[in-house]
Amino acid sequence: MSVSPLSSHPFSTHSPICGFPAPTDTVTARQPRGQERAITGNRQTSWAFADAFVAEDEALRWARDRARDAGLRSVSPGTGAALGMLAATVEAKAVAEIGTGTGVSGIHLLHGMRPDGVLTTVDPEPERQQFARTAFQAAGFAANRARFIPGRALDVLPRLADGGYDLVFCDGDRTECLDYLAESLRLLRPGGLVCFEGVFADGRTVDSGPQPVEVLRLRELLRAVRESQDLVPSLLPVGDGLLCAVKR
Ligand SMILES: C[S@@+](CC[C@H](N)C(=O)[O-])C[C@H]1O[C@@H](n2cnc3c(N)ncnc32)[C@H](O)[C@@H]1O
Repeated sequence: MSVSPLSSHPFSTHSPICGFPAPTDTVTARQPRGQERAITGNRQTSWAFADAFVAEDEALRWARDRARDAGLRSVSPGTGAALGMLAATVEAKAVAEIGTGTGVSGIHLLHGMRPDGVLTTVDPEPERQQFARTAFQAAGFAANRARFIPGRALDVLPRLADGGYDLVFCDGDRTECLDYLAESLRLLRPGGLVCFEGVFADGRTVDSGPQPVEVLRLRELLRAVRESQDLVPSLLPVGDGLLCAVKR
């Protein structure tokens, strides 16, 4: 019987710590190494763990429930945590969001932004924005922290200021994602971030079978972001895939 390399680690334990699962690999016959370990490891379990890593509060649960009632998909907890962390990293004072929904992503963004930061959020459905307004209030954000603009992104974004935003989050109509990229490049200051939610399209982006137009557009978006000389990209495997890029 071999002994796990983890058993000599100072943080090694046989009981759970702070919600981390107890190690199960202490009595396995042979430990996979390097690349073999990366391939055989249980990626699904690790991704599920990463997505549930940051707990959500009452206001977020309420906004999620309203989204579920409306048949809407909100960002996953892991994606929300990544958005909040990115907003904090760029010390975001001005964020533009395409696709308010019922406010789940908005709450995460506001948590990461500067205390005087303003979230400008666009959605053609005013009832959804009303739920988001209630959720932001329940989460403790003053009314002046969010500017709700009812309308379609491609009608509203041209009215927003060039270079006036630290972060643009795109979660609206996926068939318009290339237009959102062009608008984001105009809206962002140098060093600002653009993020696109759902670029895995539930696995269809990498599926070789015939795909709907939204998936074809997402593939074009991924290619455009990867090849752009103006962007420093990273595709984060949280939720349904969060494509992020910094504008040079
Ligand atoms: C997936 S939901 C957004 C969820 C939200 N970001 C969250 O995580 O809580 C997509 C939203 O985009 C909105 N939407 C659809 N087409 C749009 C467009 N052309 N411009 C802006 N928003 C749009 C929908 O009304 C819907 O509320």
